Amino acid sequence: MKITDFGVEIWMNETENHCEFNLAETCVDSLTVEELLDLAGKKDSLLDEILPMRLSYGAIDGSDRLRDVVASLYGKQSRENIVITHGAIGANELVHKTLVSPGDRVICVVPTYQQHYSIPESYGADLQLLQLREQNNFLPDLAELQSLVNDNTRLICLTNPNNPTGALIDESMLLQITDIARRCDAYILCDEVYRGTDQQGDGITASMADLYEKGISTASMSKAFSLAGLRLGWIAGPRELLEAVSIHRDYNTISVGMIDDHLASIALENSETILNRSREITRNNLAMLDAWVENEPLISYIKPKSGTTALLKYDLDMSSREFCLKLLADTGVLFTPGSAMEMEGYLRIGYANHPDILKNGLQRVSGFLQGLGSK
Ligand SMILES: Cc1ncc(COP(=O)(O)O)c(C=O)c1O
Repeated sequence: MKITDFGVEIWMNETENHCEFNLAETCVDSLTVEELLDLAGKKDSLLDEILPMRLSYGAIDGSDRLRDVVASLYGKQSRENIVITHGAIGANELVHKTLVSPGDRVICVVPTYQQHYSIPESYGADLQLLQLREQNNFLPDLAELQSLVNDNTRLICLTNPNNPTGALIDESMLLQITDIARRCDAYILCDEVYRGTDQQGDGITASMADLYEKGISTASMSKAFSLAGLRLGWIAGPRELLEAVSIHRDYNTISVGMIDDHLASIALENSETILNRSREITRNNLAMLDAWVENEPLISYIKPKSGTTALLKYDLDMSSREFCLKLLADTGVLFTPGSAMEMEGYLRIGYANHPDILKNGLQRVSGFLQGLGSK
């Protein structure tokens, strides 16, 4: 089975370990094991908890403890609505695999994480892309969405908060999208891996699983919880969907690692502390980025409302890949070219890394831009 190259992942594999200032990072500054145990007050007790563990496959769907605490992140979910997966990437793949057959109409709001269009395309779906545009603040045009649905629509895919634009669909717009989906009896898959990083209020985005009877939310420990190294995610959704998912999951997961499950449970039992830290980083760092953009004549953007990334538009006559390769070679700063996500003319910045990395990285980009601008 053929599938298109995953642009962003290929870019990261090529470059991520060769940069000095990683402004392509999309996780909120990752925690060390020690930092996690410190904030959870578990530094002295963890070994006692882990040593007696017999390393079997463990609980197949994820431990009850973990599924309960994941369910508590939502308004209307319980353990039975949660299945644990290998990251959000595993969660998304399982949902597509379970729902999409050749010829099914799948509508995907783009730009987004490439899984959501390249996987259904590889299955022979009737794929329709709904393009987010700067003039709409990167929010979906619902009249356009309405015009794309038909009776054969199986799935509508969103990423909210959005990667790469940082746009945030609020609850009332999400509800309008559920109205459109309900009329054609389609599922909505909402990738909520950045949930918890809204710039306003408590930071918690409304979740599709709570809003729609055929709503599926995927998420993970990677971004807002700063623990990508656990490689642990989940699907929250209707029970009958999860039963169908588990048939596919038996073929590619069995279970996640018991130690990962245990550490994720500890982290989510302290979710308030971790999310407070993430909010502080994303809010302070975005203020820093905003001041920088304001002062850079060649750069403009739509200020993100949530998430960890923004699309920077640059006023220079060069491709985004050329820009990023030269930036990396000259300064050691890593951005992601818009071309890797079919957004030529833009650069994606991940602004939630450690504040010093953002500050020093942006300073170097300023010098680089001055050099280019004066030519
Ligand atoms: C929107 C989106 N979904 C899913 C993923 C994969 O996340 P995970 O590390 O949980 O597999 C990413 C990673 O960048 C992402 O941006």
